[in-house]
Amino acid sequence: MAVLKVIKAGDPILRQPTQPVTRITKRVSRLIEDMIETMYAVDGVGLAAPQVGVSKKIAVIDVGEGPIALINPKIIEGSGEDIDVEGCLSVPGKQAYVKRMATVKVQAFNEKGKPVQIEAEGLLARALQHEIDHLNGILFTDLVDEKDIFEGEE
Ligand code: NI
Repeated sequence: MAVLKVIKAGDPILRQPTQPVTRITKRVSRLIEDMIETMYAVDGVGLAAPQVGVSKKIAVIDVGEGPIALINPKIIEGSGEDIDVEGCLSVPGKQAYVKRMATVKVQAFNEKGKPVQIEAEGLLARALQHEIDHLNGILFTDLVDEKDIFEGEE
């Protein structure tokens, strides 16, 4: 496994729509392992493949309950509203209060290619929305007024 370099805002790869994964190749499995290791190394709760320079629909998340790998994730249901502080490894030093859906249901494939459905609320729901946004070229700073972005830890 390897710790990968996290790409910062301003790099066009973070803005490109990503390609779906059609097969769990060794390369994909290895990328997922490296993304998990990278997420832990930089103390993040989630990481999307474009953030490590790979324009594919892959994300990893760990909100403290163990790592989850998501391939081709899609939000199929969402409800409510929740506003909380958010940061991003690709936007270091910046934070903002971001409005998200309070609960979401996400459909994806796991690292073995098995279809999974995740129903989430709280931090996991937020992380899922944040990472899926990355797969569509969206950063949290797009969702708020520039004046509402403040200096923060992440
Ligand atoms: Ni992010």
